[in-house]
Amino acid sequence: MSILIKNGRVVTAESDYIADVFIKGEKIVAIGKDLPIKARRTIDATGKLVFPGGIDPHVHLDMPFMGTYSSDDYENGTRAAMFGGTTMVIDFILQTQGKTLRSALKTWQKKSGKAIGDYSYHMAVTDFNDKTAKEVVKMIKEEGITSFKTFMAYKGALMIDDGQMVQLMKIVKENGGLVTVHATNGDMIDSLIAKNRAKGNMTPLYHYLSQPEVTEAEASGRFADMLHYTGCPGYIVHMTCEGALNAVRKATLRNQKVFVETCSQYLVLDASLYEREDGAKWVMSPPLREKKDQVALWSGINQGLVQVVGTDHCPFTWKQKQMGKDDFSKIPNGHPAIEHRMELTYSEGVAKGKISLNKFVEVTSTNAAKIFGMYPKKGTISIGADADIVIFNPETEHTLSVETHHMNADYSSYEGFKVKGKTETVLLRGKVGIEKGKCKLKPGYGQFVKRGRTSLTI
Ligand code: URP
Ligand code: ZN
Ligand code: ZN
Repeated sequence: MSILIKNGRVVTAESDYIADVFIKGEKIVAIGKDLPIKARRTIDATGKLVFPGGIDPHVHLDMPFMGTYSSDDYENGTRAAMFGGTTMVIDFILQTQGKTLRSALKTWQKKSGKAIGDYSYHMAVTDFNDKTAKEVVKMIKEEGITSFKTFMAYKGALMIDDGQMVQLMKIVKENGGLVTVHATNGDMIDSLIAKNRAKGNMTPLYHYLSQPEVTEAEASGRFADMLHYTGCPGYIVHMTCEGALNAVRKATLRNQKVFVETCSQYLVLDASLYEREDGAKWVMSPPLREKKDQVALWSGINQGLVQVVGTDHCPFTWKQKQMGKDDFSKIPNGHPAIEHRMELTYSEGVAKGKISLNKFVEVTSTNAAKIFGMYPKKGTISIGADADIVIFNPETEHTLSVETHHMNADYSSYEGFKVKGKTETVLLRGKVGIEKGKCKLKPGYGQFVKRGRTSLTI
């Protein structure tokens, strides 16, 4: 099958021009002005943006968490992602404490068989010991799983201590991988939660008040210090605030590079939502912050301190959220977001003049491909790359709503949010995935992407 995308504005992280893109099989094989080529199918992209399929490196699909499971499975989650222009996700495998990485991998391989979009896994190491160290090497060398997630919070379930963290960093560095982190001070948060519960402070607002900015700033700085000591490449997930960003900024003074991801919700929503009666919809960790933090994060993107915008998509239905109706600490943490990342970042970032179009492509696709070792197969429009392409109408205005989203959540955390710019057509490895509001790909089309070394020169 061949497809010719004609006359679109082709935007990558470093270029922006009007051209045709010719696709044969799964790959892009030619790019140029008025290509003299006949294809089986031609798509007119005049007036549209043509950019690389989005990569969301932070999603939780069908994940056991806080006594329940996140409500999107691989089929529904990757389909919803594609409706929004995200063609690949990186999900998290959770090691069960006391068990092996291999057994967790097997569990996730079963879940992911029905993916519609492409995917990879980060391996969350929740129990580090000599046996785990050996398995880490195998994950990198044999499985192409090169990023290892750690938690500095969620004690008793997911957290590892600093000694384990440093040992993990050493082995990961030696073998060409990357350590990622949920960087918040778990002990401090647990004591604030306990204090609030003892006083009868049970509403969602106290979720926010139990995780003040300092808990994230301190852990981010500590993680950066441990990276500096070990020389391991590292990546901080879901950064929310100015204090944490300043910890990374400080690390740059000793010529250190720490990769940073923020998420679309931290760029566009703020903590005032926790005062609402339905505040549980936005209970996530770390919590939404203040307007000043949004300003810091957008600036961080422009300064190159924040390289990636993900979602931390971890949806729950309202019934699941009700598990914590009398106690904020029992509300499953997370929200539905996978579908809206690209459009929110375009609308609030590019359309409002906060970031350039090239920067948009960088933070929604290219940098994730580079950091997580799959560039230029993924993350760009170039000859030889996978034909993962979004055709985007920058003028279409629409309103986000539970009535129109495709995520398995019976509410939208963005109900009524107006956005400018809409994903119209999506291709994944040369096949049309989304067209005229319909998904054309079947469960199982999505492929696992083996990854290599981080490119450190971003
Ligand atoms: O609230 C969140 N973020 N839920 C998912 C788990 C995590 O910490 O990323
Ligand atoms: Zn987290
Ligand atoms: Zn997460």
